[in-house]
Amino acid sequence: MKCSIAGAAGSLFAAVVLASAGNGVVLWDIQKRHVAQDPSKLQRRGSTYEEIISNEEARGGYFATCRLGTPSQSLTLQLDTGSSDIWVPDSSAAVCRETETDFGGCSLGTFNPNKSSTFDVVGPGEFDISYVDGSSSKGDYFTDDFEIGGATVQNMTMGLGITTDITYGLVGVGYAMNEAIVGNTQSTSSAYPNLPVNMMDEGLINTIAYSLWLNDLDSSAGNILFGGVDTEKYVGDLTSIKIYPTNKVFTSFLVAMTSLEASSPSGNDNLTSRAFPIPVVLDSGTTLSYLPTDLAKEVWKEVGAIYSQQFQLAVIPCDMANSKGYFTFGFAGPDGPRIKVRMDELVLDLTSGRPPTFKTGIYAGQDACEFGIQNFTSAPYLLGDTFLRSAYVVYDLVNNEIGIAQTDFNSTKSNIIAFASNGAQIPTATIAPNQNEATQRPSMTSPAYDASAGFTNGSATNNPAPGMPTALETSQIFVLGISTTFAMLGSGIFLGL
Ligand SMILES: *[C@@H]1O[C@H](CO)[C@@H](O)[C@H](O)[C@H]1NC(C)=O
Ligand SMILES: *[C@@H]1O[C@H](CO)[C@@H](O)[C@H](O)[C@H]1NC(C)=O
Ligand SMILES: *[C@@H]1O[C@H](CO)[C@@H](O)[C@H](O)[C@H]1NC(C)=O
Ligand SMILES: *[C@@H]1O[C@H](CO)[C@@H](O)[C@H](O)[C@H]1NC(C)=O
Ligand SMILES: *[C@@H]1O[C@H](CO)[C@@H](O)[C@H](O)[C@H]1NC(C)=O
Ligand SMILES: *[C@@H]1O[C@H](CO)[C@@H](O)[C@H](O)[C@H]1NC(C)=O
Repeated sequence: MKCSIAGAAGSLFAAVVLASAGNGVVLWDIQKRHVAQDPSKLQRRGSTYEEIISNEEARGGYFATCRLGTPSQSLTLQLDTGSSDIWVPDSSAAVCRETETDFGGCSLGTFNPNKSSTFDVVGPGEFDISYVDGSSSKGDYFTDDFEIGGATVQNMTMGLGITTDITYGLVGVGYAMNEAIVGNTQSTSSAYPNLPVNMMDEGLINTIAYSLWLNDLDSSAGNILFGGVDTEKYVGDLTSIKIYPTNKVFTSFLVAMTSLEASSPSGNDNLTSRAFPIPVVLDSGTTLSYLPTDLAKEVWKEVGAIYSQQFQLAVIPCDMANSKGYFTFGFAGPDGPRIKVRMDELVLDLTSGRPPTFKTGIYAGQDACEFGIQNFTSAPYLLGDTFLRSAYVVYDLVNNEIGIAQTDFNSTKSNIIAFASNGAQIPTATIAPNQNEATQRPSMTSPAYDASAGFTNGSATNNPAPGMPTALETSQIFVLGISTTFAMLGSGIFLGL
């Protein structure tokens, strides 16, 4: 069983911020958390989850503690590479005043602007953000001091969530062109310097870049290093690949996924999809990974995962976390970097309590878990935390490149190298060769599923017979969906340019 969840909302572990500001880098520790939410506030309108079957919902993500205002107020915010605004819940927001329920109350902290002498409204009513999962936050844009990893960024523009259905704020570190204000005004000139840009402008870092180390599913903490690379947090080579623009504008961390190989003691298969090369966004604000349905189905067949129409979700026996199989994600063409993701990173708890069990079918009686690779209908597809934990990823927003390497789980060593200057290449990275081949369709032969037997060998699980009816026992009270999809909605605004 993976990913045990801290008890009730409010009793979450305290976040520790390790700071090492100076020398052109700022290190910010992030903590994996699950935050209980009132499901009536969180009906998913996206196509991924239509049905909320639980009495509460826990959101999974990586959170960091920061301080805002003068005197400073402490808040814990979710780190998100899929959006670009920092926003905080206002103390007067209705969702934060619902302390009578088990869910409300904004236990990770709220911001009271009336108590900050440096608070200044700069865009009354102009803050309005919607995320792919249907949640949203609205209010004013304001400026105030923002303290992160021991460094203070003055005059930081942020959103004040006055009307919102999310009980905690976010730190969006994506491209400034993906700020909500740019989409809402349909004007690139409304972009303001967001956190990574402001950190460079204020001299805390030398270029607009950071590295994200999420670490193991079983580990509670990772970190984000602004302005540098830590060569002790990965194994093998750090390779840089192109980020692709959307209609000539860089708005999201869109890269070319060009292969997916399944491997186990019984064999290897290159999986196929009509969508190769697949445009995928590296999004730390998304818990699971979402691939085209044809490819996801091949993955599910390899591992024996089953799509539950009831939950609109691919599920798998929890025991499969012990499988010896793994997947290798290839990027930027045949000579590009490849990242291995083991099965124990892909099997997640569905609930915070006792897991639900399969009621019928070949898995009857076994505990059911959420599978880390789900399907989605249209591009761009998302590689969320179930992929990102296995990769050390450097985001270079000046050269529009991603540096990627196999993560070194639980590394306790550190060797930080700062970017030398604004626009410097990613330290120690080599550029992936022949990236032009990334745009070519690979030749495709349907996989023989040679790896399939080895995925299930050694676990109590066997592959289900095709068409075998399956249902989950839902009589218990449980939580479904420790997942969020905090990619900002509407990055297609440049379609007209
Ligand atoms: C701050 O003061 C304004 C005006 O008095 C008030 O409307 C608002 O609710 C206050 N906000 C909080 C969080 O107390
Ligand atoms: C604060 O930031 C805003 C927007 O980025 C800018 O227009 C303004 O000049 C800045 N003010 C100060 C005092 O730096
Ligand atoms: C990393 O540490 C966690 C927590 O101590 C442990 O459960 C996990 O097995 C470790 N992972 C690896 C790959 O060693
Ligand atoms: C299953 O595992 C056993 C023991 O590890 C091994 O002897 C056997 O060959 C494996 N079978 C397959 C199909 O991989
Ligand atoms: C899958 O593709 C890679 C890269 O083209 C190749 O090296 C490997 O041998 C292939 N594996 C199988 C099982 O065909
Ligand atoms: C995912 O696949 C299932 C099973 O084929 C299908 O019913 C569902 O509509 C797909 N979901 C999306 C978002 O494409």
